[in-house]
Amino acid sequence: MAEYDETVVSEHDGIKELDNQLPRWWVILFQLSIVFAVIYMLWFHVLGLGNDQESKYADTEARAEAAQAARQSELIASMDLNAPSTLPEVVTEGGEIYQANCSSCHHSTARGLIGPNLTDAYWINGSEFEDTMHIIAKGKLEKGMQAWESSLSLRQRHAVASYLYSIRGSNPPDPRAPEGELVEGSDSPEYNM
Ligand code: HEC
Repeated sequence: MAEYDETVVSEHDGIKELDNQLPRWWVILFQLSIVFAVIYMLWFHVLGLGNDQESKYADTEARAEAAQAARQSELIASMDLNAPSTLPEVVTEGGEIYQANCSSCHHSTARGLIGPNLTDAYWINGSEFEDTMHIIAKGKLEKGMQAWESSLSLRQRHAVASYLYSIRGSNPPDPRAPEGELVEGSDSPEYNM
């Protein structure tokens, strides 16, 4: 037990206020907590050496994003290029490639312009995914379809072909008259999937 100094500091209506000594262990703890608070303040908020909640959160988020990006590129790298992809990233990229390179001849909605409608069930060069991949790569120069294998990578050609698959059957307004052979069911993104 700590010792008490019984010195009376004040007294009112019979209530005495005594000048008690605080226990030494308590005082030391109190002083240590002040020292700790100063170091803590300097460490985290002045010098910024520690990881506070915000930077820890940002760290965790950055790691999660990196893991997600790694998973995504793994998925894309291991993608089967002989089948259309339905991954939103691939289809979106394909749409951008389409608008930049193909819309001048096939129209921005792919309803057909100089080149045929690419959303209907009529095909001059085949309705299968591999037919689309093939004509994009090799073209058909005598009919005005360019070959893209030198300007678009295989992955880019796969992306644009996947995009075309995704808009099969989209029924754009003012379509160009059907050309080629009717292949029932080929105007659906589910065709042969
Ligand atoms: C300079 C004009 C032009 C551009 C640019 C062009 N095409 Fe074509 N495309 C054509 C023409 C013309 C045909 C028809 C060929 C034929 O008669 O066999 C065609 C045919 C096609 C076909 C086959 C359609 C069918 O019915 O068999 C696909 C698929 C196609 N193009 C995709 C694309 C893609 C994808 C791009 C962009 C990377 C592209 N085209 C850019 C003119 C073009």
